[in-house]
Amino acid sequence: MSEIVGGIFTSHVPAIGQAIARGIQNEPYWKPFFEGFAPIHDWLSRTKPDVAVVFYNDHGLNFFLDKMPTFAIGAAAEYRHEDEGWGISGYKPYPGAPELSWHIIEQVVAAGFDPVTCQKMVVDHGVTVPFELCWPGTDAWPVKLVPICINTVQHPLPSPARCLALGRAVGDALRRWRGSERIVVLGTGGMSHQLDGTRAGFINVEFDRFCLDSLAANPEALAAHDTLDIVELAGSQGVEIINWLAARGALGDAVTELASNYHVPISNTAGASLLLEAKATVHA
Ligand code: DHB
Ligand code: FE
Repeated sequence: MSEIVGGIFTSHVPAIGQAIARGIQNEPYWKPFFEGFAPIHDWLSRTKPDVAVVFYNDHGLNFFLDKMPTFAIGAAAEYRHEDEGWGISGYKPYPGAPELSWHIIEQVVAAGFDPVTCQKMVVDHGVTVPFELCWPGTDAWPVKLVPICINTVQHPLPSPARCLALGRAVGDALRRWRGSERIVVLGTGGMSHQLDGTRAGFINVEFDRFCLDSLAANPEALAAHDTLDIVELAGSQGVEIINWLAARGALGDAVTELASNYHVPISNTAGASLLLEAKATVHA
């Protein structure tokens, strides 16, 4: 039977993609961030997932302000990246898992969510940078992709509690899937950052530490916040942490924290990675 093996949580700053493309991961500026991926690579080589369900936010590549779904789920056979103007492009296509996507869609709709379903979808750095971080230098992606996109861009945003509930509904759907895949869940974006306005450059180490410390054992502590409180605490782009909360929800209650890394700054952002292993997720 299929199994949720665990969750990987990471910042998706485009400059990380540039650093990978330039091969400068060991330069002093980058090393403390990339070092956080050594235990994640070890874990991936042991657990060998074949599907990645990725909770992320689109930044204007697939959805723009004229049409902004709160939640959208990809159901395509393949996803491509398009040049966003960050100087990183040419990524190989991402194979989809449309049957699993439709199963997730059916199950979350039955659970009371109303996602937009996307049989065509381009994915931006919210997906591509985490894939480059997790599976660097591969000729072909070892995992199929199910992208789940959360609006963190145009208010009103979904509440943190709603994102946690969506993640839990996705986790329930995965546990009911009768395939044989090993599934890894990704949550991308965050941690604290604000790219524009009078608070541009804002980083909140204390709040980031609270998120990193509570995500494994007590995600409700973060979910109890109002969305606008998180904007105030983490910055207007730091609110991307709600993607992490959704991914955490999909893992089930019992998780083991295997690795955590935090480094300030990466570009304008508090860079972080976190690895949680799921427990007892095999269902008959
Ligand atoms: C940066 C961070 C992001 O999350 C993003 O989507 C784009 C840029 C940054 O810090 O440069
Ligand atoms: Fe972002």
